[in-house]
Amino acid sequence: MSNSKDQHFETKVIHAGVEPDPLTGAVMTPIYATSTYAQSAPGEHKGYEYSRTDNPTRAVLQKQLAELEGGDHALCFASGLASTDAVLNLFQTGDHVIAGDDLYGGTYRLFEKVATYRGLKFDFINLADEDLFRRTLKPETKLVWFETPTNPMLNVLDIRKISGIAREHGALCVVDNTFMSPFFQSPLELGADIVMHSMTKYINGHSDVVMGCLVIKDRELKPPRRTWMDPSFKAPRTLYERLKFLQNAIGAQAGPFDSFLVLRGIKTLAVRMERHGLNAMKVASFLEKHPKVERVLYPGLESHPGHKLASCQMRGFGGMMTFFLKGDLEQTRRFLSTVKLFTLAESLGGVESLIEHPAIMTHASVPPDLRKQIGILDNLVRVSVGIENADDLMADLDDALATV
Ligand SMILES: Cc1ncc(COP(=O)(O)O)c(C=O)c1O
Repeated sequence: MSNSKDQHFETKVIHAGVEPDPLTGAVMTPIYATSTYAQSAPGEHKGYEYSRTDNPTRAVLQKQLAELEGGDHALCFASGLASTDAVLNLFQTGDHVIAGDDLYGGTYRLFEKVATYRGLKFDFINLADEDLFRRTLKPETKLVWFETPTNPMLNVLDIRKISGIAREHGALCVVDNTFMSPFFQSPLELGADIVMHSMTKYINGHSDVVMGCLVIKDRELKPPRRTWMDPSFKAPRTLYERLKFLQNAIGAQAGPFDSFLVLRGIKTLAVRMERHGLNAMKVASFLEKHPKVERVLYPGLESHPGHKLASCQMRGFGGMMTFFLKGDLEQTRRFLSTVKLFTLAESLGGVESLIEHPAIMTHASVPPDLRKQIGILDNLVRVSVGIENADDLMADLDDALATV
């Protein structure tokens, strides 16, 4: 096979990192449901000792993810938040993190309600404001973390600019690429050090797995100020080695059954994303003209303030959008309870269309004042447009909008 670096994305999702099973020739990667591996003599094994450390099914998934995102390595975790937590564990008491102010509510909760108690310090800011970003950087700033487009306001942030400033400062830059998937956006090519995914969403794509990953552009790191645990401990030197150490040491990795499902889901990532994007563009254009809708936020619309940047930075606009209804909380509730084809549920990125109320559902863990400041109001609705027929989706929304 030709070098996979030269292959198109549609080919890579089928083939990259995936070889017939060396033992049996099985074309599909087997589920290696084993916790341990026989050794021929103490310390002599075939590369696998214990499945917390390494598992062949997970290893194939990690290899494929690294190729799809253009990274050197990938690591899979039990959830998106477990992968985020692994990154936080690179840092020590007193270290400072700058995060985007418009983040998935669970990421905000992990930062503000968990990591803060371990001694990390956070500033949540609008990273589109370069002056504010530069003013917020401190000597202790070690990490810059953001999503683009943001969740749920769909603001587009300039990955090249933000990661360039972070690098100048010596801070790591992590992009949560969940909304776009590697089909539409490649943050590592634009200068990020790590891409994080909730693979629960588009990468698996079938709403039947919770899993996360980190894809890493490897580089040497400075040694930590104090070593963990004991002074003789030699901390791993590179970013990947440290995260791999943490994955094994903490133990929140993905299991082989789920890894198999994600490997299967990835095979249709390209065709799914293409259809998500096409459907979302139709639905957004329909909603933008609808008399019961105040405003639609979708980066594919020319009216979106980030449309120009999105057109350079992304290869498409994805399947996520939000819109403000012309109505109050009661009317918004009625609308959300009336849709039939759209399922009222948290999460996103599956083949089926989902709809939700960020203020009450996904972003309830963001304090009300911050929600208001960002724009998460009572009439804001978030939609994950699935791959059904777009006419059926628009008809369902139209029927429910009639109740507003
Ligand atoms: C953008 C984004 N990042 C991270 C997460 C967390 O991922 P998980 O639910 O897999 O832990 C989510 C979950 O909704 C998300 O939407």
